[in-house]
Amino acid sequence: MMTNDQIPFLDLLTPHKELEEELTSVFRNALHSAGFVGGSAVEDFEREFAAFCEARHCVGVANGTDALRFALIVAGVKAGDAVLTVPNTFIATAEAISQAGARSYFVDVDERTYNMDPAKLRVFLETKCSRNVNGEIITKDLGLRIRAVIPVHLYGQMADMDAIAEIAGEFGILVIEDACQAHGAEYYSKKRKAWLKAGSVGYAAAFSFYPGKNLGACGEAGAVTSNDEQVAAKIRMIRDHGQAKKYYHDIEGYNGRLDAIQAGFLSVKLRHLAKWTRQRREIARRYDEYFRESGPVVTPFEPDWSRAVYHLYVVRVEDRQKLQADLTSQNIGTGIHYPVPLHQQKAYAHLGYRTGDFPVTERLASQIVSLPMFPQLTEQQVERVVAAVNNAASQTTGPRSILA
Ligand SMILES: Cc1ncc(COP(=O)(O)O)c(C=O)c1O
Repeated sequence: MMTNDQIPFLDLLTPHKELEEELTSVFRNALHSAGFVGGSAVEDFEREFAAFCEARHCVGVANGTDALRFALIVAGVKAGDAVLTVPNTFIATAEAISQAGARSYFVDVDERTYNMDPAKLRVFLETKCSRNVNGEIITKDLGLRIRAVIPVHLYGQMADMDAIAEIAGEFGILVIEDACQAHGAEYYSKKRKAWLKAGSVGYAAAFSFYPGKNLGACGEAGAVTSNDEQVAAKIRMIRDHGQAKKYYHDIEGYNGRLDAIQAGFLSVKLRHLAKWTRQRREIARRYDEYFRESGPVVTPFEPDWSRAVYHLYVVRVEDRQKLQADLTSQNIGTGIHYPVPLHQQKAYAHLGYRTGDFPVTERLASQIVSLPMFPQLTEQQVERVVAAVNNAASQTTGPRSILA
């Protein structure tokens, strides 16, 4: 039965109500032991999350932005370097690059997956870069050494990692995964003939546990995963003022540790993540089916090499403003991820990009709408969202014109 009750874009209340006892006992234990920083709660979660990602190591940090920044620093990125990423991402990806002292260069995304287009990465490296006397790849315009590339697994779907890794290898640059939206996402590697988990593929990977993420803390938290013991050991030092032993500082670091209470909360929630992911995938499948039958929207594209975890379910429409207004009037929450591509943000005006430089990203930014997506979304709610979307967008000319 249809109701006009509110359908939030994201429901953070229900899962916390369901887990209230377990989460409260984590907090109580921390109070009783005064174990607030470091200790077994952090170590336990790190071990569990590494196993979940099928990565050898996990180092808990304060948030996803720190995770990216620390991974870049450990990769040797420093002032005067360049790092490649996409303009179709949350600003934190580029902030971490600047905070490591480097300059961001953007590569446009693929029209169907919305993630880094490996063909454009190759074109950039072949046409906009050259080699210096040491054989390192440098940008032609400013002569900056390119140390790393950060593909972003946007909306919970991994980028085309075989292709990106092959190109990066050819040009001698490291791959750091921005897996902040992709806990548990998988990629079928033809090269390795295996499904690989986000966080297990690159030199290192960054995760965010911001509350709204698929695995979210009850506050701020993040992690770096890596298969390289040296990388993990260096991140451990950097997150803790550059010390491996208390008050013996080998390098200058940061205060970027994972809070022990958040680690405890994350361990509780991690036990439910596989189920929540199944629910998200099932909701996405239903949305896909309903829209395929009738909808004048472009639905997410999941290639056969991808198992996405649907952090967001993003459709493309011709008249986004109308769609959002109609859905809002029917108490249905929506979002836009993201309305302004990074190269068009004021914060990056100094990079000198122009409108038209990244046509796919720009087109997406004007058409995308994120529909309600969270594990507890019911079948009836999905049907109500679909009906409202179909109704709002029915006068438009349909997906073909959106993609044209
Ligand atoms: C793609 C992406 N990168 C980086 C971040 C940064 O994570 P945090 O907010 O935990 O610093 C986020 C999270 O918001 C994100 O979505």
